[in-house]
Amino acid sequence: MNDLFEDVAATLSAREQMAAGAVLLRGRALALEDEILAGLESVVAIAPFRHMTTPGGFVMSAAMTSCGIAGWVTDRTGYRYDRTDPATGKPWPTMPESFRRLASEAATDAGYANFTPDSCLINRYLPGARLSLHQDKDERDFAQPIVSVSLGLPATFQFGGIRRADPVVRHPMRHGDIAVWGGPSRLVHHGVLTVRDGDHPKLGRQRINLTFRAAL
Ligand code: SIN
Ligand code: FE2
Repeated sequence: MNDLFEDVAATLSAREQMAAGAVLLRGRALALEDEILAGLESVVAIAPFRHMTTPGGFVMSAAMTSCGIAGWVTDRTGYRYDRTDPATGKPWPTMPESFRRLASEAATDAGYANFTPDSCLINRYLPGARLSLHQDKDERDFAQPIVSVSLGLPATFQFGGIRRADPVVRHPMRHGDIAVWGGPSRLVHHGVLTVRDGDHPKLGRQRINLTFRAAL
């Protein structure tokens, strides 16, 4: 029993440096798990997941939605943040208080006080879905970090460098883990390898990622 307790405590407190300005907070979302999952459900009821098309004409394998003042969208005309959900014609759902709190606490833990996200992109990966290496660079203010929360099925997160060809380090991401990158790592290339099939006790056959940004 003590061993189990110590394992859980170690997981909850584990902090890994991915690169300068980039940390991985293992299990950091677990304390707010119930509120976050309830928030997710309420957002998706208003703004359902959809598969968007890249400017190059590819349909993304991860389905997406957003909450907050602005949502990240892509279509044949390009990538952008939009205050309106193109699928419903309405504003995006309000960012749940639990989301905002978790993002700002995690950013503070990672050394970025006063993070004020106005957008949360929600990615859903069913088994077989992936996200190729990219930079988050559609935001106005690169002084603010990115906070990325992993939920559900595990996945392998790729964290590279500023140049696309820079070497990439693979980090396993599990339910409740949070990655934060900013400062010298703000424009690092990152991506997610193909999610393998599995069954998560809370989320079933899917991985959910919440990405918080100061977009506008
Ligand atoms: C993203 O880069 O938008 C999502 C990353 C992830 O799913 O872990
Ligand atoms: Fe990203």
